[in-house]
Amino acid sequence: MADSPSALEVVVLAAGQGTRMRSSRPKVLHELGGRTLLTHVLDTATSLEPEAVHVVVGHQAERVQAVLEDHPAAPCWVMQSQQLGTGHAMLEALPGVADDSTVLMVYGDVPLVGQDTLKRARAVADGGGLAVVTATFEEPAQLGRILRDDSGAVRAIVEYADASQEERAIREINSGIMALRAGAMKQLLAKIEPHNAQGEYYVTDIIALAVAAGIPVHAVEAASEAEVTGVNDRSQLASLERVYQRGEAERLMASGVTLADPDRLDVRGDVSAGEDCFIDVNVVLEGRVALGSNVSIGAGCVIKDAVLGDGVCVEPHTVIDGAEVATGCQLGPFARLRPGTVLAEEVKIGNFVETKKAVIGAGSKASHLTYLGDATLGAGCNVGAGTVTCNYDGINKHRTEIGDAVFVGTNSTLVAPLTIANEAYVAAGSTITTTVGAAELGVGRGRQRNIKGWTRPDRRGRDKD
Ligand code: UD1
Ligand code: CA
Repeated sequence: MADSPSALEVVVLAAGQGTRMRSSRPKVLHELGGRTLLTHVLDTATSLEPEAVHVVVGHQAERVQAVLEDHPAAPCWVMQSQQLGTGHAMLEALPGVADDSTVLMVYGDVPLVGQDTLKRARAVADGGGLAVVTATFEEPAQLGRILRDDSGAVRAIVEYADASQEERAIREINSGIMALRAGAMKQLLAKIEPHNAQGEYYVTDIIALAVAAGIPVHAVEAASEAEVTGVNDRSQLASLERVYQRGEAERLMASGVTLADPDRLDVRGDVSAGEDCFIDVNVVLEGRVALGSNVSIGAGCVIKDAVLGDGVCVEPHTVIDGAEVATGCQLGPFARLRPGTVLAEEVKIGNFVETKKAVIGAGSKASHLTYLGDATLGAGCNVGAGTVTCNYDGINKHRTEIGDAVFVGTNSTLVAPLTIANEAYVAAGSTITTTVGAAELGVGRGRQRNIKGWTRPDRRGRDKD
């Protein structure tokens, strides 16, 4: 309900350039697990079902907006043309936030923050307090430090640049994530001033101001260090990628998938799997991939936007993109299924076979060295090695329609548009350009001649070399 006192509005700070990435791309558009950093944050924010998500952009704002425009969070964009600090970014965003909302502030470059941590922060704010998400780091580097009083209560945050040696020794850090009623946050932010080592408006100054104003401040401890780790350079991005991938691997294993090595699988999208699947090393899964039960994926496969039915066996080094593969199919090694490939049960697509917009009936086989593009094959066909559907005349694509139980001999060239009817047979080495009728034998090749008494070439007249 829009007028509920605990309506949630999320503010995502994403205006910075991210100088240390040394990139022409804004930092929040770098990818982790196949999604941009900002997409991760927006996905997690959306899971809290907020009333609104405000995203503060500045550096290359149009580019960030263009990439995230269609995100389900339906971001409200806030333009911060000069990046005068995190407090300034919040000052720009808050006029768009209702006073009685709870405002949750997150960073666009902290991609792995968990839903549960955000919920705990929100609960503190719903209860009238100020939540700051903290963690204790082995090496807190240049993060802001949490200052507590003798009773252990949070008193303030000091930025690294402003901290004394003693304060720098503190290992409890500010993740940057905070939550508070928007009305209270507006009042506190109105008081901050850029009188510090960096000359910036620090949002972190609201902690001490809240303490002074009698607002209870609660540290909400993050569940892990990774959850609140920000990405500032490519090395940190790579470390977080490994953390994320380990999480995806654990999730798949928990759902009943055996992984040959959980550290050698990369998931860049949404993967679901039935029980007793096996995934060998160095497999990349991208986009939406749905595996049935008992699916086996060999080493070095790349599988994107695909549905693989129960018992499908994918041999090593197979590349699949945009395909539907029914129960019991056997693919590879070294097969390539391109978009629009639809395989019925028990189809075999063997080594060095490429398919594209190919609909193939149950039990059909193309075991070696074949291209099936813009083609329909019925059930129980056998396509010999070296068969090529010639689907392209240089300008247009044409279809090849093949019926049931057709046998295509080795090294055949099928020139589309073409129909080969049920139970037809194509002689090996044929170039087929016109319809082969049901149960007919199509032969499209020169006859063999054997020439008796011919003269073998010899070396006479050639210099020895
Ligand atoms: C900030 C915190 C620090 C905390 C750390 C955690 C302050 C003053 N310090 O420091 O206590 O330990 O995060 O990562 O808040 N941004 C804007 N507009 C601005 C400035 C920043 O949108 O004017 C955005 C950045 O794009 C980034 C986020 O805010 O997503 C954090 O800014 P950054 O400059 O990285 O803050 P830190 O110095 O790391
Ligand atoms: Ca930072």
